[in-house]
Amino acid sequence: MKHLFGIRELDRAQLDELLDLAETFVGNGSPSQTLQAKTIAPLFFEDSTRTRASFEMAALKLGANVLDFDAKTSSLNKGESVRDTAQTIQEMGIDAFIVRHKSGGIPQRIAEWTGIPVINAGDGAHEHPTQALLDCLTLRQALNRKDLKGIKIAFVGDFAHSRVMRSSVHAFSMLGAELTLVAPSTMHPSDMSVWPITVKYNLDEVIKENDIIYSIRLQQERISKAVMPSMREYITRYCISLDRLSRMEKDQLIMDAGPVLRGVQMSAEVLEDPRCLVSKQVANGIPVRMAVLQSILGGAQ
Ligand code: CP
Repeated sequence: MKHLFGIRELDRAQLDELLDLAETFVGNGSPSQTLQAKTIAPLFFEDSTRTRASFEMAALKLGANVLDFDAKTSSLNKGESVRDTAQTIQEMGIDAFIVRHKSGGIPQRIAEWTGIPVINAGDGAHEHPTQALLDCLTLRQALNRKDLKGIKIAFVGDFAHSRVMRSSVHAFSMLGAELTLVAPSTMHPSDMSVWPITVKYNLDEVIKENDIIYSIRLQQERISKAVMPSMREYITRYCISLDRLSRMEKDQLIMDAGPVLRGVQMSAEVLEDPRCLVSKQVANGIPVRMAVLQSILGGAQ
């Protein structure tokens, strides 16, 4: 594997291989030096907390150096292009870029411009492949199995603008899950027909039927027009409230890629419930990103 642009470019064997490797890094506190001579550059043109921090932790745990690039204080502000920025940093001896950008396709363009490995850390509403990988690892651990055959997963929220949903739908489908999307009609994606997914509009209709409820954030940074009558109505219909939680079984699970909009996507108390996997998802960001970095930089390419 030279790059990781999206889950849709992986086959089942590659997905399993990355997850198997990630499992070997879970709870592995002792730093390894397998990427000792390597330097990675996180090019985050869009904000991030968990993805950037866990890529940096993953690189440091493997012995790699991490360039401290801050788009907000860079010469992008003087009018330098993304291409010139990437090529300038490449000249400094970088082994891989980790790229987040508000536009889909920028990671591929940077790979074309520079010729060095690029890992997509989220591009527009296109893909967020390492999020999907950590979601799969979290479900492997929670369900104690490597596939999702017969497992019912309902995504709830803003799919029209969600790269998390697009990557995780691909990954969960590949593992055999049965998927439902629940949202107002304005938040369903226009490219729906590419996935074998049931479309619903009422969370209460599906909440008991699914093994996992995966909440997708309102992507306010990408929403350019009114997609719902009011926030109050959205919360009433789609928030995982305490009342909805009380109707769920003991073995039903709740996921969210984060950041979580408390009181909009779910009540604060839901985040503390043992059925909620959000903190496990965050923790799994490190072993998954170690596996991706190791696969791209640690062996034959
Ligand atoms: N899930 C996710 O991508 O979070 P950040 O935006 O904080 O990286």
